[in-house]
Amino acid sequence: MTKKGRILSGHRPTGRLHIGHYEGTLRTWAALQDDYDCFFEIADWHALTTGYADIETMQERIEQIAIDWLASGLDPERSTLFVQSDVPEHAELFLLLGMVTPVSWLERCPTYKDQIANLTDGTGPGFGLLGYPVLQAADIVIYRANVVPVGEDQLPHLELTREIVRRFNNIYGETFPEPEAMLSEFALVPGIDGRKMSKSYDNAIALADAPDEVQAKMRSMFTDPEKLRMGDPGHPGKCPVFVYHRMYQDDEARLEEIKTECEAGRLGCVDCKIEATEKLLEKVGPVMERRRELSENLDYVHEVLREGAAKASKVARETMSEVRTAMHLDSTI
Ligand code: TRP
Repeated sequence: MTKKGRILSGHRPTGRLHIGHYEGTLRTWAALQDDYDCFFEIADWHALTTGYADIETMQERIEQIAIDWLASGLDPERSTLFVQSDVPEHAELFLLLGMVTPVSWLERCPTYKDQIANLTDGTGPGFGLLGYPVLQAADIVIYRANVVPVGEDQLPHLELTREIVRRFNNIYGETFPEPEAMLSEFALVPGIDGRKMSKSYDNAIALADAPDEVQAKMRSMFTDPEKLRMGDPGHPGKCPVFVYHRMYQDDEARLEEIKTECEAGRLGCVDCKIEATEKLLEKVGPVMERRRELSENLDYVHEVLREGAAKASKVARETMSEVRTAMHLDSTI
């Protein structure tokens, strides 16, 4: 079967993933695996651009992300799952791409400006942080990926990758394809406090949560602030719990009924949450269950990453050999 092209995407090992990641990213990635030749990378070097001292838990965070990925349906039979630092060729390409990347492009990058505004340790931004998008460009082009599925926040990095590629190809001859961003389907999953689900807001339902933790979190979820007692009319449009019904209730007629019953004040928040939780567990429960099985089988998880690194390295080595030739660095003396 011929595929539509090659995909690379990645994630920093930030720790356990939550259902916001699952609905917003992982389900999209899993669905792309039949049509594209997929590479999924755990970007541990990128994590060091800000958290360079945060190494105590690095191996655990890598493991946890790998488990979340496998549980969500990323399939090592069809895709290559690997850790960035297992393929040191990325660093060589990062160095070479750095030669043709003006510092002014990097200083202008909005994610860099955000990051330096949030730095707290007083030493100022590191060289690695400034170079973050160059490393990301290396990640992508070393596999000659055509398509990069990402969230909107990553678009500036994709634009920079394309500019770096154009400059490189101009100077050294056509070497890399210009990758296209593929925007993940918009899926804003609210956390238990109604804000966007995010680990840093401490409002997330993790894929690693046990069913009773999920139930407890759902019970404490914020609801329409104007519906104070049973019998008050509700406003599903303002209620995070209704977002969960929209995500997980397949029966359109029941969804409509939930809406009208809430608006009429006949459906109480407690019952409404119980129903939403049941549907959530019906859909995401199997992922959570697979996750528990994988956590008991870490040898398998490590084996997947080892094999992934071998497959990724093969492609990366071939590309680097062409890059060295293009840049007249392949002396055989
Ligand atoms: N910067 C991405 C993020 O923070 C992670 C990443 C690293 C990535 N390398 C990549 C994403 C290559 C897409 C392609 O989420």
